[in-house]
Amino acid sequence: MVVADIKAVVLGATGFVGQSVTQVLRRQGVAYVGASRALGVDLRDPAATAALLRREQPTHIVNCAANVGSLNYVTEQAGTVIADNVRMALSLYEAVARECPQAIVINPIANCAYPAEADVFREEDWLEGPVHRSVLSYGASRRLLWNTAECFAMQHGVKSIHLLTPNMYGPYDSTDPNKTHALNALVAKFVKARLACQPQLVVWGTGAPIREWLYAPDFGRLVWEVMQHPDRPGLEQPTNLAQNSGLSVRELVTLMQRTFNYQGQIIWDAAKPDGALKKVMNNARFRCIFPAFQFTPIDDGIAATARYYESIYPY
Ligand SMILES: NC(=O)c1ccc[n+]([C@@H]2O[C@H](COP(=O)([O-])OP(=O)(O)OC[C@H]3O[C@@H](n4cnc5c(N)ncnc54)[C@H](OP(=O)(O)O)[C@@H]3O)[C@@H](O)[C@H]2O)c1
Repeated sequence: MVVADIKAVVLGATGFVGQSVTQVLRRQGVAYVGASRALGVDLRDPAATAALLRREQPTHIVNCAANVGSLNYVTEQAGTVIADNVRMALSLYEAVARECPQAIVINPIANCAYPAEADVFREEDWLEGPVHRSVLSYGASRRLLWNTAECFAMQHGVKSIHLLTPNMYGPYDSTDPNKTHALNALVAKFVKARLACQPQLVVWGTGAPIREWLYAPDFGRLVWEVMQHPDRPGLEQPTNLAQNSGLSVRELVTLMQRTFNYQGQIIWDAAKPDGALKKVMNNARFRCIFPAFQFTPIDDGIAATARYYESIYPY
């Protein structure tokens, strides 16, 4: 598909992930329209969602809209989180079926939708067991998004592509402590500690847990690949955007001490829970679909994220 033939609607364009997508689209010269409440469209409202798609007639819809936040947020606000996200999913698919059934919907699916017990996430197992209770509201809504997409494919032929996505980090995340994502929160902590010449920095847990991280601009580049080649074999099934490797919190902290040249003392607050020891995503399917894709090295991603936080903290 050539650039001139693409017209995208990016839902959640003002969010952390949405901004990483729109940056790539702008760079590629792709026509797109962003939507979110701040931009005047509440996707829980079926009429507003239908009006948007009727007007824009997109070829692609990148669905980065969600009511989501930290573990604390999705637990405290569990009822609102599931209600809002389910409403958005239903509004979206009903509107697509009615107004632009030819459009391809691209859904990031956060890896908290994987079963709680898994330590290596394999696509074929992603519905084999309940999600962890701490992410019940959000994880369940992502599974329902996939189920909704399947049903609208069955009845209306709507095509969707689901990208199972690890925790992301990078520029443009919210600075609200209840919304900031884990690795970004750690980078922000180091930026503040260095700027304030803090002699100590407290990190929760023992540092042992291993997690996989995706640099958000890499997600934007992958979405662009998918938009151009939606028929690549394999993409008809949910696909991990995976490297099959993670870093322990301790390794990340060492990396940040080096990046920030932080000389203060690290205090490990082992009274705080670690969670599961290891969570990484199997990349066998990913490598077949995107054999040439190069992920950004984590040092470079963290350095760019640090520059972002340095630019927004008023010291
Ligand atoms: N961040 C990660 O680490 C990560 C990892 C894997 C997958 N993902 C997935 O990526 C997607 C986006 O996450 P994010 O981290 O970018 O979240 P975010 O920063 O909170 O952004 C959410 C976006 O959704 C919009 N939105 C929320 N409620 C809306 C509503 N009722 N109507 C219209 N727009 C609404 C928000 O804008 P307004 O407030 O202006 O409405 C914002 O633009 C989610 O599906 C998430 O699961 C994220």
